Amino acid sequence: MSGEQDSVFLRKFAGVIAGLVVLTVVLIVVANSIFGGEDPDRLALAEERAMQNLAPEYAVRLTGDPAPALASAEAPADAGGVMEVRSGEQVTQAVCIACHQGNFLNAPAVGDASGWRERADKGWETLINHVVNGYGNMPAQGAAASEEEIEAAIEWMVEAESGVEIPES
Ligand code: HEC
Repeated sequence: MSGEQDSVFLRKFAGVIAGLVVLTVVLIVVANSIFGGEDPDRLALAEERAMQNLAPEYAVRLTGDPAPALASAEAPADAGGVMEVRSGEQVTQAVCIACHQGNFLNAPAVGDASGWRERADKGWETLINHVVNGYGNMPAQGAAASEEEIEAAIEWMVEAESGVEIPES
């Protein structure tokens, strides 16, 4: 290649690069005018998308089912906005069983009649309150289950499975 061919090539090449730079700037300006700015609709949509991405229904479980605790956290769309209330057994298996199956931290186990008998006398109101807000070694469970579900879980663990009657407060 001669020196002249080189400089012709370089000039053309520089022209192409300059053209691409101009095109880039133009595209940035156009994109900004279309998508930029603090458009509230767009921000709301972006936030909605972000929340969808964070939504727990995509939580991975080995069974492929949504986690029970998470499944009820959002009302299913086809339920007309009504929250699904889990049964006492479901709540226990999802939330409480980690501690209430082997006297973990002195938590009475499901089926442990004598362990529950000495606590049951406190009455419904106190027990529900202790579970919702935490008591002794038990951290508050109010974030993991509704009060209604907690009541059902206590009924299942203590009355149904352990045969211990809880008096009204
Ligand atoms: C992180 C462990 C843990 C989880 C989860 C847990 N518990 Fe407990 N629970 C305990 C421990 C420990 C105690 C005993 C507390 C103490 O006496 O110090 C206890 C005590 C109780 C008591 C007796 C309270 C009292 O006043 O004597 C009830 C009722 C109870 N749990 C129900 C539940 C229910 C229902 C759930 C699920 C919604 C649950 N627990 C989840 C650890 C747990």
